[in-house]
Amino acid sequence: MKFKIIGFTVLLAAIAGSAALAAQTSQGVVFKPTSVTLPAPGGLYTGQDAALLNSHCLTCHSAGFVNRQPKLSLAAWTAEVTKMRTVFGASIDDANIKMVAQALVDRQNK
Ligand code: HEC
Repeated sequence: MKFKIIGFTVLLAAIAGSAALAAQTSQGVVFKPTSVTLPAPGGLYTGQDAALLNSHCLTCHSAGFVNRQPKLSLAAWTAEVTKMRTVFGASIDDANIKMVAQALVDRQNK
């Protein structure tokens, strides 16, 4: 009786082991643990023109997302700010587009 239980346990272990092995080799993938360090989100604009940018550019993404973009010309930032309004629906008055774009250029040149 005792022998039968041990035999059954060994059989189960063998089935489980071969199933795990099959899953690993049939996919050809071996998973290993790893870790990544993401940049801090940088929630708010700080420093020069922070109030202007915080009031126009925080509804949908963080300041860090914009601060990490490549350096752009005034024309490119103007197009970018216009796109935020026309494509994504940002609430920015026509009169403020140039001012916001200039603020973004000034910050990247500091
Ligand atoms: C109404 C929501 C909204 C507001 C407000 C907003 N954005 Fe965006 N922004 C988006 C979306 C959506 C994307 C695209 C994100 C993506 O592709 O993952 C984006 C992407 C960007 C990008 C990356 C380049 C690109 O064109 O995809 C920049 C730079 C950017 N926004 C700057 C700004 C600035 C500066 C302001 C303030 C003037 C602003 N955004 C305000 C919605 C917004």
